Amino acid sequence: MSDVVVVGGGIIGLAIALELQDRGATVTVLERGRCGQQSSWAAAGMLAPEAEELTGDLRELGLRSRALYPQWIADLQHRTGLSCGYWCCGILCPSAQPRADTAGGVSWLNRESLDRQQPGLGPIVTGARWLPEEGQVDNRRLMAALHLAVRLAGVRVLEGVAGYQWQFSPSSTIRAIATSIGELEADHYVLATGAWTRSLLPQIPVTPRKGQMLSVFDAQRSLQRVVFGDGTYLVPRQDGTIVIGATVEDVGFLPDTTATGIHGLLAGAIALYPAIATMPIRETWWGFRPFAPNEALFLGPGPYANLTMATGHYRNGILLAPVTAQIIADQLTGRNPKSHPQAGP
Ligand code: GLY
Repeated sequence: MSDVVVVGGGIIGLAIALELQDRGATVTVLERGRCGQQSSWAAAGMLAPEAEELTGDLRELGLRSRALYPQWIADLQHRTGLSCGYWCCGILCPSAQPRADTAGGVSWLNRESLDRQQPGLGPIVTGARWLPEEGQVDNRRLMAALHLAVRLAGVRVLEGVAGYQWQFSPSSTIRAIATSIGELEADHYVLATGAWTRSLLPQIPVTPRKGQMLSVFDAQRSLQRVVFGDGTYLVPRQDGTIVIGATVEDVGFLPDTTATGIHGLLAGAIALYPAIATMPIRETWWGFRPFAPNEALFLGPGPYANLTMATGHYRNGILLAPVTAQIIADQLTGRNPKSHPQAGP
């Protein structure tokens, strides 16, 4: 493997590009907009395989990736001097009853203990699972650091360049990708286009799931834990921003936030943490998660011999970026070519 084109400049594409370049490949990233401006930007940045209740292979990957995070972030900060807002702040998952998995290292706090862990939760929170190894990264700051790290490593980053069609050689391998600035040739191609996967691979069943979100500002920095409720989560950044998410909507690429979406999120947020009612709203936004049936994850060989897929990360793209980069780089460099074609739950 020498020349690789990575299509997609979100967190998955950039993480793979950096890992491949570090292992000796010459990598070009092709991004039709600006790197990291789609779902990587819209996400909340939770590192939460347990709170998300991932199961099976996906859970294993999530736990592995969560364990990779401290070193991955330290490396990015070392390369760039930029902080990524990584914070192992723990996650509280409100639940009325202790859960069966408590014996597996997850503790459950009754209301009295909860008040010591995080004062100010709403009366609907009568108890919660406490997940001390979970946390968050500030995904927007992470993307800025990753973008810089990739360029410092020597990756060629082409932004504002759309890749719209594969060009094949007589042996049915991909010879080039046709782009808005002409054909780009490489030995190997990696598709990491998230919710837009079908524009280059219509046969892969990855479709968008819109998420609406907003943020408020907590001048007191009173919320210090992620609160992962039923349908609403609260992610407090260290600068006082509280990110509130998120709707899950099967509406294609329909843009915009809606009154119903934001109203539902605010109602859920205020019920979890009543002080939010008087906090100023900072921002509202939306993004598109890459969803596949059964939450399948496409990590491995694509439909053409020199194409690898890294898509379908759905709610877990930020979490799964480091492990995805390792797996794809292992496959392409032959270090550990085991493939994970569809790691569903
Ligand atoms: N990872 C949380 C979400 O997708 O809303």
